[in-house]
Amino acid sequence: MSKTITVNLKKKPIYDIIIHNDFSLLKDELNKLSYEGRKCLIVTDSNVGPHHAAEIENLLSDFCTEVVVHTFEAGECNKNLKTVEGIIKTLVEHHFSRKDFILALGGGVTGDISGFASSIYMRGIDFIQVPTTLLAQVDSSIGGKTGVDFDQYKNMVGAFYMPKLVYINTSTLKTLPARQYYSGMAEVMKYGLIMDSSFYEWILNKMYEIHDMDQDTLEEMIEHCCTLKQRIVEKDPFENGDRALLNFGHTLGHAIEKAKNLTLLHGECVALGCVCAAYISWKKDRLSMEEYYEIRDMFVPFNLPISITEIDPAEIVALTKSDKKASVGELKFILLKRVGKAVIDTTVTEEEMLAAVNEIYFSEDDLNE
Ligand code: GLY
Repeated sequence: MSKTITVNLKKKPIYDIIIHNDFSLLKDELNKLSYEGRKCLIVTDSNVGPHHAAEIENLLSDFCTEVVVHTFEAGECNKNLKTVEGIIKTLVEHHFSRKDFILALGGGVTGDISGFASSIYMRGIDFIQVPTTLLAQVDSSIGGKTGVDFDQYKNMVGAFYMPKLVYINTSTLKTLPARQYYSGMAEVMKYGLIMDSSFYEWILNKMYEIHDMDQDTLEEMIEHCCTLKQRIVEKDPFENGDRALLNFGHTLGHAIEKAKNLTLLHGECVALGCVCAAYISWKKDRLSMEEYYEIRDMFVPFNLPISITEIDPAEIVALTKSDKKASVGELKFILLKRVGKAVIDTTVTEEEMLAAVNEIYFSEDDLNE
């Protein structure tokens, strides 16, 4: 059974999120958008393309006038303007017009880059999201944040640009490397922690089914996350308020990602960032010690890290301070008042951040003891 969630803006339906266990409904959904007889550029990366691009190309071959596949080298290090330029060149070479559309097939990097290219090509062409990682299915494909990294700044250049459709085929998770899958679990747990304590309990109760990728559990989990995200982005589409709560774990998480030179996955860094933010919440008397330790330890069953080696804690703090958001305004930290309730806090000091990073940091000496 497929599920549909509609995202509205100012009470007007803007796009549907379809959740299904294969690609069989994709053509019908594109038909509803009147895309028959248009050209489609499938943008994908070198990891995802070999698994799914041919299936979608075949599916659309008698529906679109031309289907072109543009594959870029996988990796966050390619989330830059050069990759966007490559996409634009392909669009130009194949004479794409404003009526045509882009289909982003892949994880968060693919969705963000493709969305941004769509927003600027001929001042904007339609794009649809076909997220294939858990992280993209539960978070990044929804809400219209698009963009690329620039110099040392993550997501520095971009636009809010809404997709026309988000099509989630849950079976694509079966081809995902286990590490990528668990990385997505950090974003899933984030929802429970910031806004839904009963969902947090549900995740813990379903631990074994989540490990086994039980189809019904996956669908229920993804649908619930999409509904929570829909609620947030409808209320605050351009992140003037509560949408910032979704950045829980990301403030220090992004700095860890940079310091580790992208050798840790995004969700792994988010998990570490969540542990730090929960620690700061405890130290600022918002959470109890028991709650902090419970939250920290709950990442472990999902193969997510709660400690880190071979970093300089002071460097993490410096990188946090030089992050895009901090460099152009005050540093907004997302803290927890309890499981299921997050708040924005602008009073977190450098010392508090350093103490939090030291809490998760183990030096070589610690390890040899
Ligand atoms: N991924 C966070 C957001 O969409 O706001």
